[in-house]
Amino acid sequence: MTRPRFSRKPALVRLLSVAALFSIILIAIQSSFFTGSRAPVNLDIPILSHFQSNLQQCVANRGLGLTAHIIDHCNVILKFPQGTNSTWYNEQFKIFEPLEYKYDVCETILLWEQYRNMTTVLTREYLDSRPDGWFDYAAKRIAQLGADKCYNQTLCEEHLNLTLPAKPPFHPRQFRRCAVVGNSGDLLKTQFGEEIDSHDAVIRDNEAPVNERYAKHVGLKRDFRLVVRGAAGNMIKILNGSDDEVLIIKSVIHRDFNAMIKKIRNPVYLFQGIVLRRGAKGTGMKSIELALSMCDIVDIYGFTVDPGYTEWTRYFSTPRKGHNPLQGRAYYQLLECLGVIRIHSPMRAKRKQDWSDVPSREMINNAHRAALHLKKKQAGQEGGLGRFVNCKVWGKSGPYGTGPVSGSTDMTDTRKESNYNRWEIMPFESLREEARKHYMQMEGVSLYKMDGNKLDDLVCVKHPLKSEA
Ligand SMILES: *[C@@H]1O[C@H](CO)[C@@H](O)[C@H](O)[C@H]1NC(C)=O
Ligand SMILES: *[C@@H]1O[C@H](CO)[C@@H](O)[C@H](O)[C@H]1NC(C)=O
Ligand SMILES: *[C@@H]1O[C@H](CO)[C@@H](O)[C@H](O)[C@H]1NC(C)=O
Ligand SMILES: *[C@@H]1O[C@H](CO)[C@@H](O)[C@H](O)[C@H]1NC(C)=O
Ligand SMILES: *[C@@H]1O[C@H](CO)[C@@H](O)[C@H](O)[C@H]1NC(C)=O
Repeated sequence: MTRPRFSRKPALVRLLSVAALFSIILIAIQSSFFTGSRAPVNLDIPILSHFQSNLQQCVANRGLGLTAHIIDHCNVILKFPQGTNSTWYNEQFKIFEPLEYKYDVCETILLWEQYRNMTTVLTREYLDSRPDGWFDYAAKRIAQLGADKCYNQTLCEEHLNLTLPAKPPFHPRQFRRCAVVGNSGDLLKTQFGEEIDSHDAVIRDNEAPVNERYAKHVGLKRDFRLVVRGAAGNMIKILNGSDDEVLIIKSVIHRDFNAMIKKIRNPVYLFQGIVLRRGAKGTGMKSIELALSMCDIVDIYGFTVDPGYTEWTRYFSTPRKGHNPLQGRAYYQLLECLGVIRIHSPMRAKRKQDWSDVPSREMINNAHRAALHLKKKQAGQEGGLGRFVNCKVWGKSGPYGTGPVSGSTDMTDTRKESNYNRWEIMPFESLREEARKHYMQMEGVSLYKMDGNKLDDLVCVKHPLKSEA
């Protein structure tokens, strides 16, 4: 192992960068003093520049050879070292993967910090609040409807009701630490099992097996599983007696799934926030979105993020054709240095768990505020920068924890024994303190995405606070 690569002097670096920030602030104050301007001192750019140099240091320390090259206060290029073997050939563009990737860090912070406050499960209140939610959007989440719109809402309700809770079943800040476990064959090179199981919640993907055979590599704890359409067909086999695990379907529902869902006790929901027309690509990213919408800290395992990538392997099956390994590696490294995820991999396994070079919460919050301020200023919308600045559509709903449990009108005997109640009508007092605090700070408002990854297209649903206060 190349241990020295990871050794650093965080205290000194910190001290220097704090000193640098102070002098920038001083200069900014002085220059505004001398110009006699009465406008408030604009620190957005110095704050973001300072953040960029921290990011650069973080990538240097943690990126296993990746380097960050700063273009300006928002833009950065991540480069792989000269001579990196780009073996993945993009058939569509007829090129090998490039060795450098440009990112807008400001946009990336805005996007991923937003997930921390988001609801990522489709609910009845969402469909009720969104304009044409039932007529238009609901139809897109049903396969084999035989129409492109819900001309008959009752028919659409019949399809969706089993997977449609009245209100969000999960909450921002519900868990402290979550593990997102990908399916990479790399998992067999390490023994992260116990570490994974020590998390408050574990999120897995598609048909990933969880059993004694793989326990020391991937653990045994199962809480959430994100599935695409293909895998949803094998649900009963995948679940193998674990009726606590919550299934979240990333694509669409249809009759065959519903027939199966009626037979199992596991809660099943639909993911909200997928980009519909582009298919269900990027399973890993959606798992991270789901995790961030519930967890303070997101540890990722089993994503192929080490140098030397040659093929796409899964821990439980033979290798398949790979997809965009370098692009993925660079983006995950960026996310780690933005405090979104923590990467665990074979080449990082022997490293001491030291996160001092990843920016602190406070620093990220400051950078987020600066990025938002700058963006709104550029769009000529200064002023309203509150929590609800991105709400495009507003809706109202009943108090938290009320309303029928999803599928209740179709409650079979299986359903009565199910674990739906544990989530959907969990009393407010049973939520983690941080989650309750957040709920109060958000004045009981749940935020949902409309479609893809646009920042300012939120559907915001207000719940009365009275019963909780
Ligand atoms: C690059 O990858 C190809 C295909 O896997 C391999 O044949 C070649 O030896 C590799 N080159 C280096 C320098 O690793
Ligand atoms: C709407 O769908 C329901 C359930 O399938 C059906 O009973 C009803 O007849 C339909 N209504 C119309 C007007 O087609
Ligand atoms: C769907 O569920 C809701 C809420 O439980 C209920 O009011 C509605 O009648 C159900 N629709 C159908 C078609 O079963
Ligand atoms: C289901 O799990 C049990 C206990 O872990 C195991 O013995 C059995 O082989 C599993 N069945 C399948 C079909 O995977
Ligand atoms: C997220 O929620 C917190 C309250 O927990 C709030 O202070 C913050 O402004 C929100 N941020 C976004 C981007 O919505």
